[in-house]
Amino acid sequence: MSAGLQRKIIMKKVTVPEVLAMKGDGRKIAVLTAYDFTMARILDMAGVPVILVGDSAGMVSGGYETTLPVTMEEMLYHTRAVSRGVERALVIGDMPFASYQVSTEHARGNAARFVKEGYAAAIKLEGGKRSFDAIKAIVDMDIPVMGHIGLTPQSVHRFGGYRVQGRPEERASEILEDARAVQEAGAFAMVLEGIPASLAAEITAAVRIPTIGIGAGPHCDGQVLVVNDMLGLTTGMKRPRFVKEYSDLKRTITRAVKKYIKEVEEKVFPDEDHSY
Ligand code: KIV
Repeated sequence: MSAGLQRKIIMKKVTVPEVLAMKGDGRKIAVLTAYDFTMARILDMAGVPVILVGDSAGMVSGGYETTLPVTMEEMLYHTRAVSRGVERALVIGDMPFASYQVSTEHARGNAARFVKEGYAAAIKLEGGKRSFDAIKAIVDMDIPVMGHIGLTPQSVHRFGGYRVQGRPEERASEILEDARAVQEAGAFAMVLEGIPASLAAEITAAVRIPTIGIGAGPHCDGQVLVVNDMLGLTTGMKRPRFVKEYSDLKRTITRAVKKYIKEVEEKVFPDEDHSY
């Protein structure tokens, strides 16, 4: 039997019920974003249980200034590429701006495209109370939904920048209400982004579904980071305080590329070992 086939048989897919059960069992959930086949394959083989094809793809891979210009077609391309690279992880496709806010019918149609054309097992969308109908409509067609509240990047213009949400106190209770609405609408999990750790702890204790934090402190049921940030690949922007760099790939890549340029220019590469 080939190693690939053996791996496929041994690998058990991570499912939505399993992610829900992780909260009950007190097992923390590690989530990372991915946008292409190669990165998805590496993350999957390293054992990350949940991969989010975030609309951060627009900024990280596409160079947009915000996530707002990202289109359905772009998200489907990234989601398909990630799905092809994954054998075990749960793949969640992120619905881009204006793909779920226009009407519930539009939201259902676009969510279905993530499953049919992107091979995603679930979708994520932003907003609490205001997204209740969209979440419910999508869940009603058996597509699991991950909510996303707090500092929702698609609301950047309303917030006036990427600012921590949930301060002062009234805004904290609005976010708690958003969390309850996301759960009531039938979501299986929710991202809590850019809120005080104490508020994230309160929400995590108040809801039955897992909370996945990003810039929301240590009390969430899981954590998510943009993979380029945690690998030290991000360029040209100030690193937010919540990002921990687990590697310095920017430096590693720069060194390798400089060496390659030098070897080509000095006629060291290709040598006999790398020629036919
Ligand atoms: O788009 C994204 O990558 C996200 C996560 C960081 C939560 O929404």
